[in-house]
Amino acid sequence: MLYMARKAVIISIVVSFLMMNTKASTTTGNFSQEFDITWGDGRGKILDNGQLLTLSLDKASGSGFKSKNQYLFGKIDMQMKLVPGNSAGTVTSFYLSSLGSTDHDEIDFEFLGNLSGDPYILHTNVFVQGTGNREQQFYLWFDPTMDFHTYSILWNPENIIWFVDGTPIRQFKNLETYNITFPNKQPMWIFSSLWDAEDWATRGGLVKTDWTQAPFTASYRNFGIQVCEQPSSSSCSHEAWITESLNSSSLEKLKSVQMKYMIYNYCTDTKRFPQGVPSECKYT
Ligand SMILES: *[C@@H]1O[C@H](CO)[C@@H](O)[C@H](O)[C@H]1NC(C)=O
Ligand SMILES: *[C@@H]1O[C@H](CO)[C@@H](O)[C@H](O)[C@H]1NC(C)=O
Ligand SMILES: *[C@@H]1O[C@H](CO)[C@@H](O)[C@H](O)[C@H]1NC(C)=O
Ligand SMILES: *[C@@H]1O[C@H](CO)[C@@H](O)[C@H](O)[C@H]1NC(C)=O
Repeated sequence: MLYMARKAVIISIVVSFLMMNTKASTTTGNFSQEFDITWGDGRGKILDNGQLLTLSLDKASGSGFKSKNQYLFGKIDMQMKLVPGNSAGTVTSFYLSSLGSTDHDEIDFEFLGNLSGDPYILHTNVFVQGTGNREQQFYLWFDPTMDFHTYSILWNPENIIWFVDGTPIRQFKNLETYNITFPNKQPMWIFSSLWDAEDWATRGGLVKTDWTQAPFTASYRNFGIQVCEQPSSSSCSHEAWITESLNSSSLEKLKSVQMKYMIYNYCTDTKRFPQGVPSECKYT
């Protein structure tokens, strides 16, 4: 155990190079080994020998899964294919969270469904010691129901970065030197769920869930988890992700995505924060 705990653990990644002629040797993440279906009474399923996971939602219940282990820092990639057709009212989430009641940390991706042909909203947030209110929302530049796409969370001591298909869309920096809190004390688990939120999800709750379309199903495959069991130990310092941050060209990409696709940013919502937007907004 001691030996294991000192090692940097990499559960490797996960790309099927179907379009290429290379025969890449890949280690595919096995859902059975890393995750438990935690709720939904059979609506969540691990299939294909651990290589595919599906969640479903009907009028009686949604469903969800959770990692068996918790991590302090990590880079998590997940390929997801969202509920197709009329997904209005449904929310599919993929997030990291510590447990605990009032002072939990959390890093979120949430996908808000829509009527057929209308765009999903990708909603992101970060909670530090129980305080969220840091929402940013985006449209995607593709239809997330047609195919699998990779959604990634990089969480290291320097920053949190949200990626879509490898493109950074959001960054939350460690600004503790400015007395701004950063989640770096509590380990988190990986969670995902599919549930009904018809009272707010689609056009602010105007469009309700059409239960004649149920069950609604989202699919997951090819996840990658890179974690460090002892983030301060020297073995972890060899991991590129533990110090990864955005260089100037990735920052340009992020800004361009935000310019084109961001539809809500708490940092510019002066109506909501009449006393002034949260102080981290000054430094980004
Ligand atoms: C995934 O893990 C389960 C449980 O350990 C095992 O039965 C299954 O064969 C594994 N699948 C693959 C593709 O190795
Ligand atoms: C840092 O933030 C905490 C909590 O918001 C506050 O109580 C404290 O006074 C701040 N310290 C400084 C030096 O600004
Ligand atoms: C759904 O489509 C409408 C109309 O295009 C759009 O205003 C809205 O942002 C879309 N997404 C959600 C989740 O409501
Ligand atoms: C910036 O980072 C990206 C992504 O990690 C990398 O592909 C690129 O080569 C880097 N560019 C420079 C100029 O270092």
